[in-house]
Amino acid sequence: MGFAQVGAESGWRTANTKSIQDSAKEAGVTLKFSDAQQKQENQIKAIRSYIQQKVDVIAFSPVVESGWDTVLNEAKQANIPVVLTDRAVDSSDESLYVTFLGSDFVEEGKKAGEWVAKEYTDSSDPVKIAQIEGTTGSAPAIDRAEGFKTALAGDSKFEVVASQTGDFTRAGGKQVMEAMLKSNPDINLVYAHNDDMGLGAIEAMEAAGKVPGQDIKIVTVDAVKDGMTALSEGKINYIVECSPILGPQLMDVAQKVKAGESVPKRILTEETTFTPEQAKEALPNRQY
Ligand code: AHR
Repeated sequence: MGFAQVGAESGWRTANTKSIQDSAKEAGVTLKFSDAQQKQENQIKAIRSYIQQKVDVIAFSPVVESGWDTVLNEAKQANIPVVLTDRAVDSSDESLYVTFLGSDFVEEGKKAGEWVAKEYTDSSDPVKIAQIEGTTGSAPAIDRAEGFKTALAGDSKFEVVASQTGDFTRAGGKQVMEAMLKSNPDINLVYAHNDDMGLGAIEAMEAAGKVPGQDIKIVTVDAVKDGMTALSEGKINYIVECSPILGPQLMDVAQKVKAGESVPKRILTEETTFTPEQAKEALPNRQY
C-alpha cells in the first residue's frame, strides 16, 4: 500500500499516522508512507510515485477537497484502486476511488452547534462567537463550518463575529486568537475546528488575562489526549469526537479490494461527544 498522509499538523494526525503504521504491520501489509507537509502538490507527487511503483492499493487523506481528478484518473488508468481515508474529494466521478472511510464532518459541526444552542438556551442575550477554521478548502473545515451554522440557524442571538483559519495547528490557533481578541475583545465563545487550535487559543486567552472556559467558552472537535485534559480541567467546555483510529478498517478494506471483493462506497466512523465529567472518566484509558 502507498499511503499519502496530509502531514503532522495536529495530535489527531500523529495518532492517525500511528494507527495506519501499526495496523499495516499487524496485517502484514507493506506500507510506503509519505508526509505531504499539508501541501497538495506533495501528495500528488507521492501518489504518482506509488503509481510508478505499481503498488496494489493507494490510500490517502486529501489535504483539500478539489483538484484531484487528473491524478486519480492516472491511478485508474494504471488499474490501481484508491481508498480515501479521513477526508473526501469533491470529484463528481465516483469511479475514481473505491471507497471513502472516515467521519461525517457535517454531523460533527452540528453536534458542536447543538451543544452551543443548549448551553445558551435560557439566555436571550446576544452570543458573540469566534470560529477558528481548519485548513482552507479541506473537507473538515468546510463541513464543520456548515454543520455548526445549520445547528444555530434558527436563533438570531448567535452571531459569528470572526472566522479565520488556524490551519489545524496549535500555533495557528494561538495566532488567530490573539488577533481576534484585539478586534473582538467581547467574544463569548470560541468554536475551534480541532483541539490543537483550541489549545492554541487557550494560550492566547491566558496571555490576555482571560480565563478560558469561563470568560470565554470553548468547543472543539477531535478528543485527543491534550484536548481531553484541557476539557477535564474546565479550560475547554465540550469536545465532539473525531476518531483518528482508521488503520484497522483501512487494512481490512485494502485486503478486500486486493482480493477483488466489493466494499461499501462509504464507511462511516463511529463517534461520540465529551463533557468535562466524561473526559475525566475517559482520560485514564485514552490511547491517543
Ligand atoms: O481531517 C481530520 C482533521 O485533520 C482533524 O480534526 C484535525 O485535527 C486534523 O488535522
